Amino acid sequence: MKYMGSKRRIWKYIAPIILKNREEKQYYVEPFCGGCNSICQVDGLRIAADINPYLIAMWKDLLHGEKYPETISKEDYEKAKTAYKTNDSTTYSMGELGWTGFMASYNGIFYHSYSGVSASDGKDYVQASIANIYKQIDSMKGCELICCSYENLEIPDNSIIYCDPPYRGTEGYGLAFDYPKFYEWCFLKKSEGHRIFISEYSMPSDFTCIWAMEVANSLDRYSEKRGRRMEKLYTIN
Ligand SMILES: C[S@@+](CC[C@H](N)C(=O)[O-])C[C@H]1O[C@@H](n2cnc3c(N)ncnc32)[C@H](O)[C@@H]1O
Repeated sequence: MKYMGSKRRIWKYIAPIILKNREEKQYYVEPFCGGCNSICQVDGLRIAADINPYLIAMWKDLLHGEKYPETISKEDYEKAKTAYKTNDSTTYSMGELGWTGFMASYNGIFYHSYSGVSASDGKDYVQASIANIYKQIDSMKGCELICCSYENLEIPDNSIIYCDPPYRGTEGYGLAFDYPKFYEWCFLKKSEGHRIFISEYSMPSDFTCIWAMEVANSLDRYSEKRGRRMEKLYTIN
């Protein structure tokens, strides 16, 4: 699905590194799953977690066969946006708010503004997002979905953990992120016997960069932040 910070384009490069020597019953865990664009390409035992309750509710509903509206007008969008902004839980379920917010928001940025049909190229961005997520659903079947902050996630022994947190220095996802606490947690998980990998632009010197590639910034259409950035993958040796 279209998601801010998606790793869809680099996954083919980093997957062989992250999944190397994975054992048959070994869990693959993503504590910052976002659009699930990486985890949907992994098989076997998987846990996808994220702090965003609308996102996880939407994914759980979709995996239970829930059918959401296949068209979202600007009016529908504005109505849902008001419910989201005013914390009104009487009209829509969490999953429905997630669906409208993720499928019909400009650049996939939750309730930023309505995407709709582009005046410049005539592309229907809502329909494209919906078609995109429908293609992803089958590949998510069997994946455990959990809504929590990474530090509260229960991780099975000897897991492979891939972290794709909000990048330091970016706008983030509307929540403050405590980076030193996250670094400590990574070391704790390593000491507990997990293999841990982190996508970031830079990390403290006690983390090892094992892959880097220059890519176009994923905040694309109309974004002033267009440019090329160095994507990196880190681990703890
Ligand atoms: C860069 S995005 C992940 C994108 C994902 N890898 C993809 O390909 O679509 C970062 C995610 O971290 C989540 N997040 C932010 N703070 C968090 C926290 N404390 N615990 C868990 N998830 C968090 C955000 O909701 C967001 O979905």
